Amino acid sequence: MKGVIVICLKEMVVEKFGIDKWKDALVKAGIDKEPSIWPVSNIDDQVVLRILNSLCEVLGISLTQAADAFGEYWVNVYTQKMYPTYYKYIKTAKEFLLKMDTVHVSTTENMTDANPPRFEYEWGDEKTLIMKYKSQRGLIDIMVGLIKGVGKLYKEDLRVTKLGDDKVKIVFQ
Ligand code: HEM
Repeated sequence: MKGVIVICLKEMVVEKFGIDKWKDALVKAGIDKEPSIWPVSNIDDQVVLRILNSLCEVLGISLTQAADAFGEYWVNVYTQKMYPTYYKYIKTAKEFLLKMDTVHVSTTENMTDANPPRFEYEWGDEKTLIMKYKSQRGLIDIMVGLIKGVGKLYKEDLRVTKLGDDKVKIVFQ
């Protein structure tokens, strides 16, 4: 996984819970000395998952709660400063979500060894979108948290439901 995800996770934890919680989680994950990480660095997926699970233990929260906190921060804070162009001219959560497949291809095309998630779209009815998640990483809970973060950004009351391991249903108002 690209370093940018871990950098954002650390920033969120430090801001909301304090640096000591981050350090405790790294120790719990078996990382004695924190390496320097760049947005384009490659971090072993298993290491990222270990950090995430350790954070849940240290903070006493579930993976769903951690995913929601990360998703809210990534969309509403971190990418607002790192990738503002993707939000330009977009007015609704629906428009933004429909761009996510191409956004993941374009943000990672100049990063070596990136392996971005891909998304396919299917409509239930005009208010119901099914997003199919295509990734080997099995991070559907993170995807749900990110989609809820998009609802918050556009101040829309989205109903977001996980349908198994590779689909999310989104009902727009
Ligand atoms: C401007 C907004 C966004 C940008 C720039 C962005 C970019 C990225 C990047 C660079 C990665 C790492 C890919 C890699 O390591 O190969 C990533 C991972 C991920 N993104 Fe986004 N993302 C954005 C919003 C979203 C949203 C709204 C969703 C929900 C549909 C989403 C779903 C995911 C998931 C689930 C992962 C984890 C990797 C995986 O499951 O394979 N992202 N994103």
